[in-house]
Amino acid sequence: MVNSSRKRLVIGNWKMHGDSAFNSQLLAGLRTGIAQVQHCDVAVCVPFPYLYQTQSLLEGSGVSWGAQDVSQHEKGAYTGETAASMLADFACRWVLVGHSERRTYHGETDAVVAAKAAAALGAGLTPVVCVGETLQEQEAGQTQAVIDRQLAPVLALGAEALNRLVIAYEPVWAIGTGRSATPEQAQEVHAFIRSRLEAAGAGAVRVLYGGSVKGSNAASLFAMPDIDGALVGGASLVASEFLSIAAA
Ligand code: PGA
Repeated sequence: MVNSSRKRLVIGNWKMHGDSAFNSQLLAGLRTGIAQVQHCDVAVCVPFPYLYQTQSLLEGSGVSWGAQDVSQHEKGAYTGETAASMLADFACRWVLVGHSERRTYHGETDAVVAAKAAAALGAGLTPVVCVGETLQEQEAGQTQAVIDRQLAPVLALGAEALNRLVIAYEPVWAIGTGRSATPEQAQEVHAFIRSRLEAAGAGAVRVLYGGSVKGSNAASLFAMPDIDGALVGGASLVASEFLSIAAA
């Protein structure tokens, strides 16, 4: 069955890029260009300091916004962290959790990632839980085992929680490399993730693909039955390119 019941979703992950002047151009471009995009939810996940700017410039447009990380804790003595309630205060709708760069450079474990997803849900945000294997793991034939391990504590949150989140499959070897997974490769893993979600009572959850998605490869990825959209890094920094993905 083609993914007709699941609305497509394209999220930009700016990572640690941007400044006030750059963002204001990019956000203005999205605000005007979004009119050409139909049947697709479009969002940007921006660095924390620019949430207020993003909110101001996107409010009332068809583009929603969010952050790239969140604390697993509700509040308290956690210097440098940002609570889910603070993101909600800036009308964030989304937050990425467990991006491979957070797992790699900040030692985020599968359990921490699931706790962050739960914290986000608690504040009414939609967590976008990122999973994916490294090149070494892929070459060793461990893709499914790695995804199972990463998903386990998330699936344990239960169907009610699962039905309020989004999964992003991002093979680490495809992120920022210009080498996207082929649609068939991605579909195989998406179908696997879907089977796990279905077994947990959440088969309708949107599963995004991420890793070198561009205007030129988006349509072939989106043609796959279990690919419900994309998490876009580099290409989300150019309004026309990002919108062409959303329009694909
Ligand atoms: P990329 O990044 O599109 O630049 O490969 C994707 C991501 O890391 O979310």
